[in-house]
Parts: sequence; C-alpha cells; structure tokens
Amino acid sequence: MSIYKAPRGTHDIFGKLALGLEKLDLISRQVFRKHNFKEVRTPIFEDVSLFTRSIGEATDIVEKEMYVFEDRKGRKLALRPEGTASLVRAYIEHRFDMTEPIGKFFYSGEMFRYERPQAGRYRQFLQMGAEYLANPSPNADVEIILVAKEILSTLNIKDITIHLNSLGCPKCRAEFRQKLVDYFASISDLCEDCKRRLEKNPLRLLDCKIDSNKFQNVPTMQECLCDDCNNHFQQVQALLKRVDCDYIVDHKLVRGLDYYTRTVFEVRSSSVGSQDALCAGGRYDNLVKELGGQQIPSVGFALGCERVLMACEQNGFFDSLQTDDVVFIALADEELFVDAFTFANDLILNNNDIRKDICLSENIIIEGPFLNKSLKSQFKLADKIGAKKTIIFGKNEFDKGKIIVKDMVTQEQKEVKLPDYCFNRQICNTDSNEVFKNVKK
Ligand code: HAM
Repeated sequence: MSIYKAPRGTHDIFGKLALGLEKLDLISRQVFRKHNFKEVRTPIFEDVSLFTRSIGEATDIVEKEMYVFEDRKGRKLALRPEGTASLVRAYIEHRFDMTEPIGKFFYSGEMFRYERPQAGRYRQFLQMGAEYLANPSPNADVEIILVAKEILSTLNIKDITIHLNSLGCPKCRAEFRQKLVDYFASISDLCEDCKRRLEKNPLRLLDCKIDSNKFQNVPTMQECLCDDCNNHFQQVQALLKRVDCDYIVDHKLVRGLDYYTRTVFEVRSSSVGSQDALCAGGRYDNLVKELGGQQIPSVGFALGCERVLMACEQNGFFDSLQTDDVVFIALADEELFVDAFTFANDLILNNNDIRKDICLSENIIIEGPFLNKSLKSQFKLADKIGAKKTIIFGKNEFDKGKIIVKDMVTQEQKEVKLPDYCFNRQICNTDSNEVFKNVKK
C-alpha cells in the first residue's frame, strides 16, 4: 500500500493516456503551425494581480479557485488558472507588437483551479490554447473557431456542437446588465449563488445549473447589441456559414471570465458527461490595454486536453495508437553480454546496415540485453512486453559470426550473419569483455 497518493483533483498520466496526450500535442502543433501560430512558453506562476485584473474579481476563478501563495520575499503569486493572461503579459513585456507583424501565438501546459473534482474536472489539468492578437476583424474570430474545430476533427471527434454568442462591448453590455438585474429582481426563489452574483456579475446567472430553467423569456444580449457589435456578430456568422461550419447561437453562453467582448464560443461534446466543454474561447478587445499595453483587439481559445481525450475514448482513437515494434536482445551465453550490449547500441543509433541485414523495419524499440536471467525467463519477458522479434546471442553461432533471429509470432528461428564490422570489433577489442567478467565476479 502506498503511503502517499496524488493530491485530490490531480492525476498521474501514464500508459495509453500518456501516448494519447503525445498524439494530441503533435496534432495540435501541426494545426497551429499550418495557421502560422508561434509557440510561447510562460511560467507556471505569475503575480496574482495579473489574474485578478484580467479574469475579474467577481468570477469563480478569482473568488475561490486560485492557488495563491507568497514566496520567501513576500511576493503574492498564483499558479496560473488559464493561459490567456500570461500570454498577454508576455506580449506586452516583450513588445511583440513591434517584432511580430502577425500576432498569432499558441501555448500548452498545466493550469490549476481549486474546483470540486469530478470526471473531466481537475485541480491540475492541461490546456492547449491559441491567441490571435491585433486583429479586430471577424475573420480572426472565425479562424480561431476553425483551428479548434480542425484539431477536434483530426482526432475524429464527431459529436460536437459549437455554441456561439456575442457579449457585445462594455457600452452595450451595460444596457444588458441593467435589463438582467430588472428581470431577475422579479424572481423570488433564486439560489444562494445567484443571489450573491446578482449584484456583482448578473450575466453569470444565465448559466446557473440550479436556476436556469426558472428563467423564461429572459432578455438576450442580442436585443442590446450596438450596431458595430451586431455587425461583427453577423459577419462572424456569415463567414462560418460560408465555410460550412455548423454552430448554434446560444443566448445563455456567457463564459466564466470577465475579459470577453463580442464573440464567445464553446465546443461541446455529447459523449463526455456533464463537463462537456472540450474547448472554449472568445474575443477580448480591451484586455491588452487593461494590462498596460496598447488597445489591441484579440481573440483566442483553449482546449482541455483531458476532456478531449475523454471524447476520443468513444471513437477508437486509443486502439489506433500504435507503438513501434519491440525487438528484444537475449543472451544464451552470458559471456557475450558486452557484444550483445554493443550490438543493441548500434541498433539504437540507427545503423541501417544492421537493420537491413536482419530485416528490421525503420521504427523499432530495442530492449535488452539483461544479465542474470535464464534464457527461458528472457523469452517470458520478451513475450510480456509484446516483442515482435528476439535476437539471441549464443556462443556456437557467434563463433561463426552469426546471431539467431526469432520471430515471436510464428516462433520461427533463423541464423543471420552479423555484419563483418560487428564481429571484427569483438575480435579486436577483447578488453571490455575481460573487464566485465572481472567486475561480475
Ligand atoms: P476556460 O473555459 O476556462 O477558458 O477553459 C478552456 C477549457 O479548459 C475548457 O473548455 C475545458 O475543456 C478546460 N478546463 C477548464 N477547467 C478545467 C478543469 N478544472 N479540469 C479540466 N479541464 C478544464 C479559458 O481558460 C480561456 N483562457 C480560453 C481562452 C483563450 N479565451 C480566449 N483565449
């Protein structure tokens, strides 16, 4: 029994999940690169006020979910709960507006939120995100949505719905906010969370899981959009239709971060349970300025890697994850250990001559040789790790410059001549064999 367990809400990543993440990372990077997004890696912790200012004081993330701590010099820091604020901080700090004529960036890494853990919701989770800075046009919003969709469709995730809304600009949002406050004042039995939010953040009442079905004929943001915001929203939708990207306008989509303006979206899957948002994002035209930069309208999204992989479980993605064939190096005579070890190293270093000679494909995993194991237990081990071939070093064959190659599936064995230089090296350099023998004794 282990004394320690991974902290609540965190999980170890290994086996198929680790392979799946590697593939998701690879596919996302390919899609980001195709669209000319460049990678930025930011620290895992930042000044706490970076997040309170950007995400918003009255949001769940800032009110109750951040991991805040003081370092030894009393600086107040927080583990990053999301990546947008850090990316914008880096953009301003390094004057990317001067050096990067196109402001497209991507990031990947761990995020931290003290949430109540459940399937698809963790306290430490992985995001891959893309941010398109300095482009106010609706085509930037659409490109961001298409990048997210492309990653999910490359992973063969089919049961997705894109939810789209506009939150307008601060001007039209103020009108919407007032309409909501007036509307909610007429509802008597609001839950405690809603009562608390009504004053600080009335938009969040719209996505309350407890109360939302009490809200009939609730005002919509669309009724309040100013002409510019309405035009922007119509153009986004026209472009999405033009490229055959299905979506639904969802008036209740408000998002849990305060920096959004105009377009917001979530891509939801029907196959992953209640935490169904695989990725989400939107436009944040005022954030760069609010954090001390210029007025730089921007848009972005982040996908939750664990949730995306949960959706992948339904479509056979994990079965299709192929690892390379394993070739096991076995010893029939231990005195050949050094020769077998050197041979394994030659194979690992990609010596294609040897591979060709013994009919091994390009992509193989080499395992062995092991000391102090009978040939029988070496074969058992080779079976356990699913080796496709075993190469056996035996004295009789080796003295003739040969090794045995055993096909673990058909059990067929054949003798194969070692390339001359492998054998010559052994004859010329017997010292290492001797030293090894002495050490063993
Ligand atoms: P978010 O909606 O908070 O947005 O998170 C984006 C995605 O991260 C979610 O859709 C979900 O898949 C995943 N996620 C969030 N919280 C958790 C959790 N506790 N456990 C597992 N997965 C989770 C943002 O973070 C924004 N920064 C997105 C953005 C980028 N907006 C503009 N640019």
